[in-house]
Amino acid sequence: MQLPPTFLEELRARTPLAELIGARVRLTRSGRQWKGCCPFHDEKTPSFQVYDDHFHCYGCGAHGDAISFVMQSQGLGFMEAVTELASRAGLAVPQPSAEAEAAEAARQDAFSILEAAARVFARRLFLPEGRAALAYLRERGLAEQTIRDFGLGWSGEGRGALAAELAREGFSAARLAASGLLREDGNSKISEFFFNRIMFPIRDSRGRAISFGGRVLGEGQPKYLNGPETALFVKRRSLYGLDRARAALRSNAPIVVEGYMDVITLHQAGFATAVAPLGTALTEEQLQSLWRFAEAPVICFDGDAAGSRAAERAIELALPLLSAGRSLFFAVLPSGEDPDSLLRSGGVERFRALIAAPEPLFQALFRLLRAQTGEATPEQRALLRTRLEAAASRIGDKGLAGEYRRTLRELFFMPARRRPAAKPARPQPGRLAADRPRQLMAILLRQPALLPELEEEFSNLALSGSLARLRSAILQWWEGEPLLDSTGLISQLNAAGLTAEAREALASAPLPVCPAGVEPAEARARWREVYDMLMSEPRLKEDVAARQREFAVSMEPTHEQKLAASKFELDAVRRGTGEEARK
Ligand code: UTP
Ligand code: MN
Repeated sequence: MQLPPTFLEELRARTPLAELIGARVRLTRSGRQWKGCCPFHDEKTPSFQVYDDHFHCYGCGAHGDAISFVMQSQGLGFMEAVTELASRAGLAVPQPSAEAEAAEAARQDAFSILEAAARVFARRLFLPEGRAALAYLRERGLAEQTIRDFGLGWSGEGRGALAAELAREGFSAARLAASGLLREDGNSKISEFFFNRIMFPIRDSRGRAISFGGRVLGEGQPKYLNGPETALFVKRRSLYGLDRARAALRSNAPIVVEGYMDVITLHQAGFATAVAPLGTALTEEQLQSLWRFAEAPVICFDGDAAGSRAAERAIELALPLLSAGRSLFFAVLPSGEDPDSLLRSGGVERFRALIAAPEPLFQALFRLLRAQTGEATPEQRALLRTRLEAAASRIGDKGLAGEYRRTLRELFFMPARRRPAAKPARPQPGRLAADRPRQLMAILLRQPALLPELEEEFSNLALSGSLARLRSAILQWWEGEPLLDSTGLISQLNAAGLTAEAREALASAPLPVCPAGVEPAEARARWREVYDMLMSEPRLKEDVAARQREFAVSMEPTHEQKLAASKFELDAVRRGTGEEARK
């Protein structure tokens, strides 16, 4: 059940956060907010802050409002948490009303009208009146199976045939108009919205028809006409092809293209995760929905000026929303091509290669900004630097903004020929997280006095290669020798021929961890923090994957909320690495 936003607002307003959290965590005043030791990770010094309307942990990245606090601290689902908070606040959780039920019935009715219209259009495509449209689709390389899978159709010529046919099924003209199939002209003449067009049913993620797109046969303006916004069809929330992409989205990231035909030819060629916005720029709602399926959807817009502009807009939109677990990739098409034209000119393998090694967001950002300013003169370079800086500042996640600032600056100072080309290997998601075993090793190399208390965890870490070699050398000495200090230990390792291994472990890249001469207490706290994140990540990843599958099958709001909660936790653990990077 969907809860009204006003109820949730009231619930939050009636739940003082410091009181709610204070019942579980010792909080002390710190200026206008409260702080305490984070209940979501083990820490000795408080880095958990409670504000009026949200909490945030600067140690592990845990973040949320009253509802997510109850979900995370008590392991409850969204509705359970809401119910608990409502009873504390003396509020009743809204029950479905007669009004809500009537609205729901109207929705179901609209779905059935649109479905009936889709059937009429699909049938007409295979009647004599649809012959030219069918030939056109075949000529564009669509197999009959594809045409049927996507339910493509022919609108007919208008003149009231659709209304007449649907009236026989019991659907009145008024209901057709409410569904966007009929429209009223200036002089109150009712006419069909679509005529002489190839029809593309637009479906929601559960496969229910919510509107249509119509294409003229051959040349003509407008080339595509999309149905009007209705209660069911909200363009900024819909993605064409999402219903057919769902199964494949369990194993592959979404590919976001510009047009209907791009989606269809990609699916036909086996790229079954292709989706498209509906003739508008990509919206925040669409981006959020794409992020439910993958950390980094692949944007693949046309290889022309409009496609570049659309990519720039997508980046603009994404920057404030990025985090370690939410990004974008860009597959840059050869100039003048769209995915459909590339595939039709035999570019399936080329497309596969593009998708397998897309450009990460930071590179696309650099490339696009550089193309805007140039960098031949000091004036251009100054402008480019300002724009890069401004872009990094728009990233909401502070740790990530810092990383972007540094990386963009590195690219700026790099000679152009040494900059990565548009097609780098795809970095592993969680690359930063993969650095954790090295960080643990580095901390022990800096502060070997911690070994006795950490020996058990250290011995059981899954290590390989040079880290495993270092560990066995360290443990061996420790058996016999009195404890060494950092310099002593490192010179022992050098003597044992492990110079390169030790240097690699202490390297500050990809992430710096621990300064030389670190205090034991600080080193201990850092070690615990990194260790906890390392241990919790696989479990959280499994949770997310399981809930992703669950949601992909059911598309229920409750499953979506659970998925969001799991992603949130995983995100927090991953963001922890972003925090480390800044220390
Ligand atoms: P394109 O013009 O790139 O479409 O517009 P396309 O898929 O390459 O067209 P074909 O291959 O000639 O059939 C991309 C998308 O922009 C929207 C549609 O959603 C289209 O799929 N659009 C385009 C409109 O809404 N109206 C238009 O007149 C043109
Ligand atoms: Mn196109």
